[in-house]
Amino acid sequence: MPLTIDYRISPTADALAIAAAEFITFTVQAAVALRGRARIAISGGSTPRAAYALLADPAHPFLARMPWSRLDLYFVDERSVPPTDSDSNYRMVKEALFDHLPATTLPPAQIHRIEAELAPDVAAARYESELRNSFRLEGAETPTFDLVMLGMGDDGHTASIFPNTEAIYNITSLVFANPIPQKSTTRITLTWPVINQARTVFFLISGAAKAPAVSNVWQGARKPDLLPSQLIRPSSGILTVLLDQAAAALLPAPNEQNRGRLIS
Ligand code: 6PG
Repeated sequence: MPLTIDYRISPTADALAIAAAEFITFTVQAAVALRGRARIAISGGSTPRAAYALLADPAHPFLARMPWSRLDLYFVDERSVPPTDSDSNYRMVKEALFDHLPATTLPPAQIHRIEAELAPDVAAARYESELRNSFRLEGAETPTFDLVMLGMGDDGHTASIFPNTEAIYNITSLVFANPIPQKSTTRITLTWPVINQARTVFFLISGAAKAPAVSNVWQGARKPDLLPSQLIRPSSGILTVLLDQAAAALLPAPNEQNRGRLIS
């Protein structure tokens, strides 16, 4: 299936954070309007912190607009550390978002944490069970998230699918404990077929350091073992990429043929 990439370029990192908060809020509102609930998976790292903080900031419209009581929030991946560790994606989201929400806004039962304090294989198995139970999956079904939000490393990785790692070739699990030799660790991650099954998938990418990876992933030769973000080809046929001008610096300027959209 051809892939339409919808680039949405913000002038600055601050504007990008607002665009991301708007994209998340709008997508959740639409899912709730259509299906009565929204199940989304979000990424960690540093880029999304500002957007998560905007979702809880009463000075912005997102807190009031978001149908929190209908939202189930999952994680795309997690480092093999306790939730109190400075490396924990859960801790980052807790500090940026959960801790600032009015009490009872997002009950713990609606937050589906990866129990990465456990052994990686155990954490992956338990999170996979959580997916199967909460999505009420039958047999070999794959969960359909309403939204998956991804970041990208400057090496072209996404989620915890790093270059030349086993997760690139795992199309059978929902969740995988991926050994990452280049970081001397193992991380728990949704597998790329689960990500591609989502109704909406977007990347959130900021900064000049990411510009070469952005160009290589979506303008360069297809080599997903080296550029795992190339594995992300949503079944919808559309991939949205929210980025700032610094990260977009090596993309061709929009023209009549590709105004904001490039087919690949
Ligand atoms: C993680 C993320 C990872 C992240 C990229 C970009 O656990 O860190 O899942 O894929 O999105 O590494 O990270 P930054 O936003 O910190 O550049």
